[in-house]
Amino acid sequence: MKEIGASTALYGLIGHPVGHSLSPQIHNTLAEYTGLDLCYTVFDGESRERLGDAVRGAHALGIGGLNVTVPYKKDVFPYLADIDPIAERIGAVNTLVRCEGGYKGYNTDYMGLRRALEECGVDVTARDAAVIGAGGAARAAVFMYAAACEDRGAKGRTLFIINRTREKAEALSREVQEGFASVNVRVLGLYEAAGIASMTDGKILAMQCTSAGLYPDVNSSPITDPGFFKNVGFAFDAVYKPARTRFMQLAAEQGAGCANGLSMLLWQGICAYSLWTGKDPGPEAVNAVRRKLEDAQQ
Ligand code: ATR
Repeated sequence: MKEIGASTALYGLIGHPVGHSLSPQIHNTLAEYTGLDLCYTVFDGESRERLGDAVRGAHALGIGGLNVTVPYKKDVFPYLADIDPIAERIGAVNTLVRCEGGYKGYNTDYMGLRRALEECGVDVTARDAAVIGAGGAARAAVFMYAAACEDRGAKGRTLFIINRTREKAEALSREVQEGFASVNVRVLGLYEAAGIASMTDGKILAMQCTSAGLYPDVNSSPITDPGFFKNVGFAFDAVYKPARTRFMQLAAEQGAGCANGLSMLLWQGICAYSLWTGKDPGPEAVNAVRRKLEDAQQ
């Protein structure tokens, strides 16, 4: 057990509820492997009204950085001293980095998803993409793809947002289209998903961002039509319990590569840790965290 002393830097997570968060395991393992004297814990922020007090109080107490989770990823905006321009366009932050006069907000969910896909050998902007869902996880995927196309200078890519409730997909589509003009965003209902075949000229990157398929609902997938999966080159599922979801199975049956959401969770944490400490934790630390998360997944 690590010794906590007067020189230990404190980091933590604000959200509600936070009891089941795996972030302490991620960051305390990274601290162990990188040899930094820091400790990470969770702060259950039950009161939305006191979020500003919590952020100002954390700064006053010298807390080095914070993660922010549901339901405060947007609510925290008024209490930030500065914000990363992409996080501002996404409209959600999950990482606060101490700066002059307060904290600067970043979004490492989108960074983490991109790193997770690249680690699987996926060239994110080489294909059109489909995001299934229009909630918080889908938001990170949609903006990850749009931002990647922008910074790679990829022109003319199509991003399909496919959701059970069409209006939610349309609202998200308008937001992303306003922020990132170079991507063509199209909205589809779940039952229209197989129609993608006639709207793209190659196999797509499909990112499943709904809660369908999450344990114990392991036999569900928001889309089951093989006509959709025939057109998928790589399938990412934001769900990580079970490790192989029905969505991944259906994609693999049609020959697609697959990954679950554990790698996104892992890399959003690594990106936050690097922003806080200026350190790249290195492969040994990354693999140690991956093993811890895999154990927790069981
Ligand atoms: P999260 O933050 O995990 O993304 P969320 O914001 O509540 O969670 O969003 C959940 C997403 O999963 C939504 O897109 C939801 O579809 P609706 O917009 O129609 O509600 C989608 N979803 C949840 N259960 C689903 C199911 N059984 N089939 C298809 N989509 C589902």
